[in-house]
Amino acid sequence: MSGSRSAKDFFRPLAVGAPTPPTEIPARPSRAIHFFDPSNPKMAAKIPDMVGRVDVLLGNLEDAVKADNKLAAREGLVRIASETANLGGQSGPTQLWTRINSLDSPWALDDLTTLVPAIGAKLDVIMVPKVQGAEDIHYVDRLLAQLEAKAGLDRPILVHAILETARGVANVEEICGASPRMQGLSLGPADLAADRRMKTTRVGGGHPGYLVRQDPNPDQPDAHRPTYQQDLWHYTIARMVDACAMHGIYPYYGPFGDIADVTACEDQFRNAFLLGCVGTWSLHPKQIAIANQVFSPSVEDVAHARRVVAAMSALGGDGTGAVMLDGKMEDDASLKQCLVMVELAEQLAAIDPELKKQYDAIAEEA
Ligand code: GLV
Ligand code: MG
Repeated sequence: MSGSRSAKDFFRPLAVGAPTPPTEIPARPSRAIHFFDPSNPKMAAKIPDMVGRVDVLLGNLEDAVKADNKLAAREGLVRIASETANLGGQSGPTQLWTRINSLDSPWALDDLTTLVPAIGAKLDVIMVPKVQGAEDIHYVDRLLAQLEAKAGLDRPILVHAILETARGVANVEEICGASPRMQGLSLGPADLAADRRMKTTRVGGGHPGYLVRQDPNPDQPDAHRPTYQQDLWHYTIARMVDACAMHGIYPYYGPFGDIADVTACEDQFRNAFLLGCVGTWSLHPKQIAIANQVFSPSVEDVAHARRVVAAMSALGGDGTGAVMLDGKMEDDASLKQCLVMVELAEQLAAIDPELKKQYDAIAEEA
């Protein structure tokens, strides 16, 4: 990760006794952030079995949880976190995140003051919805430091912002740099569409009306003119990726609401992966498999990346010079891209035995 964290973040006064802020955000695998409603007993019962099968489990307290169930969801999350072995904390195979209610809601303060003392040691990341600017992150940052100090926690809880207002998008760089706790950003396409007054009615994904059309053929003006659907989210994701890379934190796609359309879901996830995102949300167990596949480099890509790394190392290993592989020129810039793939493959192989087998098989073939 090339981004550096701003020195100004490390000289703010902290709450006395709060854990030291991180100087670097670890690259923990988080291909799928699987949302569950902790007030739903059927969903809660499935959680112990999901540990080890998904990179992140996220107890959702915000939208999609009815007002009458807000308290049950918060208490349910405390219970699930306390009772589920190997969930959350630094060493567990599956991270535990939560999405608290938005800061303008009547529930956000109690979410934080309940969760941090009760399960702060297990909570890895708190997702804050509808973040408008750095001021929202400063507020959560200071409050967390006070709560962590009071609870005697020795590890700071990280913060993740959902980009789902026009003002949030306009302030994306300052949001990413607002605190050393900032772990990453997710796209919130549904709320963002509403806030921007876009004319869509979906939760993420594309729209058939957002397209470009080929010019008419002057000799056959009435002939069919092919159209090409465009990605509604390209601009916002590209901004998120740059802002995150600049600050050494991680960008994610968000929800894909059409659960039945697994093909378009995979396409949307892949666009985000290719642009630089490290993961996405999963709203249904079948989206976990899609995310795990899409956000893991393919065996072909890893094999190619390793060949480039080997060829450039044979040249001296300092990155200078160029080699020809399969008729294509490779140099320091393609080497750096390949290293991104190779490092990601190593991180994922360390937690995913099936992937490790596939990546190890490349080494045996080579
Ligand atoms: C997610 O919260 C969204 O609004 O898309
Ligand atoms: Mg939202």
